[in-house]
Parts: sequence; C-alpha cells; structure tokens
Amino acid sequence: MDSTPAAWAETDTFLAATLVGHDPALEAALAAQRDAGLPEIEVAPVAGKLLNLLARMSGARRVLEIGTLGGYSTIWLARAVGEGGRVVTVEAEADNAAVARASIDAAGVGDRVDIRIGRGADVLPTLVGGFDLVFIDADKESNTVYLDWAAKLGQPGTVIVLDNIGREGEIIRDDTTDPMVIGTRDGLQMLGEDPRFDATALQTVGIKGWDGVALALVV
Ligand code: DHB
Ligand code: MG
Repeated sequence: MDSTPAAWAETDTFLAATLVGHDPALEAALAAQRDAGLPEIEVAPVAGKLLNLLARMSGARRVLEIGTLGGYSTIWLARAVGEGGRVVTVEAEADNAAVARASIDAAGVGDRVDIRIGRGADVLPTLVGGFDLVFIDADKESNTVYLDWAAKLGQPGTVIVLDNIGREGEIIRDDTTDPMVIGTRDGLQMLGEDPRFDATALQTVGIKGWDGVALALVV
C-alpha cells in the first residue's frame, strides 16, 4: 500500500471495526451532533477507546474534560469511571452542551456527568480539584491555560491527555501565524519545560488525517 491519507483512513476504519466495533449509543451521539450542525471534529473511535482505556488503566474515578462538543468523548470517559465515578466536562457553547446532554443521558451515563457551560478560563477556577485524568480538547489558543489548570486541579499521578498536537505537521513551523498552531506549540513547550509535567507525544494518522496526542503525568 502507498502511504496516503486515504490508506491511513481505510486502515483506521479497519482498526475501529476490529477493536471498537458497533456501538449504538456512540453512533447516535455522532448522528445527533451532525444533525445539530456541530463541527464533526470529535476524536476518532480508536482515540475515544484510547481515552476509555487510559482512564481504566489509571483507575481514574474523577475525570475533567475541557471541550465537550457533542459529548462523544464524554461518553467514552463516563463509561470508564464506572457507577460511582464522575466526569466534569466544560463547554463554551450552550448549544453544544444541549446536544451533549441529550446524548450522554441517552447513553445511560447522565448521572455521572456534570456539564459546566462557559469558557474554560471562567469555569475552571470554580472547580474543586482532585481529578485523576484531564482530557484537553478545546480552543487550542488556550492550551497553556488549560494545562496550568490541569496541574492545579490534579495531583501527582494525574494523567493529562492533550488532543490535536500534530496539526498536519504545522507545529514544526516556527514562522507560523496560525493562532491554533501557536497555541499547540506553546502547550508542547510547556509540557517539555514545566517541572510539574512529565510528557510525551505521538503522531497519529487515520480518519482525522495527520495529527497527534500528547500524554502527560503530573509529577
Ligand atoms: C479541530 C479541533 C479539534 O479538537 C480536533 O480534534 C480537530 C480539529 C479544529 O478546531 O480545527
Ligand atoms: Mg480534538
């Protein structure tokens, strides 16, 4: 096979079919998100399952998500924390939150998900800490602000997952003027330099093109 975006997407689809499978609640959440006209930029199925597995592997009971969108990744995380667990998810757009609320409730995990509507910079200072895992997937311009809050609202051992660190390779361009790329680069720089974190990152290819995810531990 030639290494092309089409081949990466086809392989990703195969992996999702083989390892994730058919999931009516998640598929309904995606349909609701599309029908409501929300951007279709949720994590890929294999990445949603990665979030779920990371939460379970680390025994996370309290999860913070920054950027709910239509609730697709929220459902993956809510399933991972189990019945006594809790997911607090922050969403700037009230319309997105309404779509997410309905899908999360329909998925049967509504009782463990608390959606906070507002910009991260306003909502995060109001939260009580003690989160075991923080998933950051919101406006990339604010990544350093979100990482700072993730450290403050976490504790040693907290797992941080930061989405979209590849951005089609744009992150290696130091002459970029794209605020999303600058925010992403700044976030990676912070993960590398700030002594509160120990981090790595992986590039990904698949149905979302060429991108990546950073993983960090609060030390
Ligand atoms: C964008 C944001 C995302 O969280 C994502 O996964 C893909 C793209 C974006 O804003 O372009
Ligand atoms: Mg994302």
